Order: sequence, then structure tokens, then C-alpha cells
Amino acid sequence: MWFNSWIQIHQEFPSTDEVLSADCRTRRVQGDADCDILITGLIHYSGGGWRSSIASRGLTGARKPFMFTQQDVLELNRTSWTYANRRFNERKGDFAQAIQNGHGPPEPFLDILTPRPTDNILQLLCNDGREAAAISHQTGAYIHGVDFSDDAISFATRLNQHLSLTNKFTVSEVYSYLSSGTPEKYDKILLTLGSLRWLPDLPAFFNLCSRWLLASGIITVWDFHPLPQCLDEDRRLINNYPLSPTSYKRGEGVRDYVGEQFDFHMFSRRPKQSNVFHNPHPVYISEYSCAHVVTAAIATRCFALTSYIEYPFSWEEKCCSWLVATPNGCYRAPPDVPVLPLTFALQFSLLESQRPGNHV
Ligand SMILES: C[S@@+](CC[C@H](N)C(=O)[O-])C[C@H]1O[C@@H](n2cnc3c(N)ncnc32)[C@H](O)[C@@H]1O
Repeated sequence: MWFNSWIQIHQEFPSTDEVLSADCRTRRVQGDADCDILITGLIHYSGGGWRSSIASRGLTGARKPFMFTQQDVLELNRTSWTYANRRFNERKGDFAQAIQNGHGPPEPFLDILTPRPTDNILQLLCNDGREAAAISHQTGAYIHGVDFSDDAISFATRLNQHLSLTNKFTVSEVYSYLSSGTPEKYDKILLTLGSLRWLPDLPAFFNLCSRWLLASGIITVWDFHPLPQCLDEDRRLINNYPLSPTSYKRGEGVRDYVGEQFDFHMFSRRPKQSNVFHNPHPVYISEYSCAHVVTAAIATRCFALTSYIEYPFSWEEKCCSWLVATPNGCYRAPPDVPVLPLTFALQFSLLESQRPGNHV
């Protein structure tokens, strides 16, 4: 029997022209015996899909070299998110009321995003539109959200309409969306907590984003800091810091990270909760250091880094067991524990030479 139980992609060089050099390790499982297979080659994103030119090396008894396609990476994730978002939606209470009562992303993050009433913002991987709704409700900014999960987008559309917001939501895979047709132009592009891990090709992502920004356009990325993920419950170092960007297939699908009310501040919950679920649909996850995100953006030569902030809090999600809740939906280290960065925000602005009309 053949199947791929895990896959790791090591990006060895910063990519040029959307080309990644990669080592792909996969495991052949036959009966009880596992044997590792190493496949090397190039993976690149072009024309709406991943193309690979893979040469196999040292494949003992291998009959079937693994080929990366857009389907492999993104269809698995879509299936897993569809399963998870349907169950997450069942837990959600009155989000509209919560937003009217002031729930929304924390001030320090809004201070960097600086949403203005005249802003047109494109939020990629927007999920259920709660962040978009809260930001628009508070500031008047218009937000267009894109996500490949039908359930997330139906929820987002209903929620935003209920609040009489004009925000728009589109069901689409993000790389396909950004590669498609004539781009609309936005003042800002936004990615929020838990998004980067779903983007297996960051250089391609930033390249594509550059087409969707107006002359003064900026990208804001707010995500979980990789450092706390290296620690166990007793804050001992147990995992490597992702000094090399790594992508791998995880047998367990998107986890029920919102199920436990003490571990996730949901805007509002239905009083009766269904049990924590086990998601049988595997996912591809990518791990990046903050340095990789910066390098991927500036290597496109389209963006300059304008801000890099590390925050001692996470929002909504208790990303480490030793954190304590604070009243504004955030989690922080308790007073007797040394402070670590829990989330970070990066901001990039489109370079003058890349502004519309300046292309050679
Ligand atoms: C953890 S959420 C991140 C957004 C937000 N901070 C949140 O917590 O709701 C991840 C979202 O990304 C979406 N997603 C993952 N990969 C995607 C892709 N390739 N294209 C479009 N949406 C994607 C999922 O459906 C999910 O709703």
C-alpha cells in the first residue's frame, strides 16, 4: 500500500521569479515498514497552479514520485476547513450584538492598521467576516473579504448585512483569486491571526498582492509569533524555531481551536455546545519565522517594510496553556512569567517603482 503520511518542503533559497527550490521528503508506508524517500526539484506558482519539475534522488524502490499540484496543497485544506467551519458556525451566538457592544480586534492592532472611513480594504482568508464587520462598524472602512470556505462566507455575508454594512465577501481560493482577471485596486490588504500557515508560497503571495494595491497601498500582516510554539506547557524548549520555512502534511485536520470557552474568546457563544470534534481531513501547514515573511515580501522588490511590531498578547485564542485571559478578549503571560512576543504585525508599502503607471 502506498500513501504519503507526511511531506516536508524545505525552501533552500529565497525564490526568484516565483520559483522555489525544494527538497520534498515523503514516507512510503508498506505494511509495518516505513522508508523515507527524498525527492528534489523545483516548485513554482504560475498561471494559477503549482508546477513542479521534480527529479527523484535516492529513492529505494520508489515507483511513484510525489508531484505537487495546487490540488494537493489547497484542496485538502479546503476540505478540512469546510468540515471545521461548519462545526464552528454551530457554536456561534449573536455576533452582531457582540459587535454592537464593542467586540473587535484590540486597539494596538487597529493603531497599526489605521482603518479610515474612506479606506477600501481587501481581507484575504477572512473566515466568518467578524473581524471585517467589527472594523467597519467601528471605523466606517469598507472591507472585501475572500475565503475558500462556503460556510465562512455565508456567515460573513449574513453578519455584515445584519449590521447594515456594505462589506462584500467572495468564496475563492486566495492564489486563484489574486491571479485572476483584472485586479481591483485597494488601499490596504489585510491578513489576520492564523492566516500565514495556510499560504505555502509566500513569495508568490506577495507578488500577486502587489497587483491589487493602489499607489499608496499597504499590506498589514498580523499573526501568531512562532517563538511561543517552541515551548511546552512548562515553558521548556521542546520544538525547533522554524529557522527554515517548512511545510508539511498533518494527518489531523483543522483542529477545534474554538471549542473550549476558556481557550477561545468567541464573540458570542450558543449556550449549548456540541462536543469537541476530531477532523479527519488532513491539512498542509507552513511554518515561517518573522524573518521569512519579511524576506518574502521585500524579495519581490515591490514592497518596503514600514513597520514591524511584536505584541505581548494574543487575541481570541489562548495559543499557549500558561496564558491568562484579559477583559478585552486577549491573552497575556501572568505577572510572574517573563514576557515573550505572542503575536506580531508587519506592514509593507508598495514601492514607488511598482505603483500603477510606473511599470516599465
Ligand atoms: C484561522 S482563519 C484566519 C482568519 C481569521 N483571523 C480568523 O481567525 O477567523 C483561516 C481561514 O483561512 C481560510 N483559508 C485557508 N487557506 C485558504 C486559501 N488557500 N484560500 C482561501 N481561504 C483559505 C480558511 O477557510 C479559514 O477561514
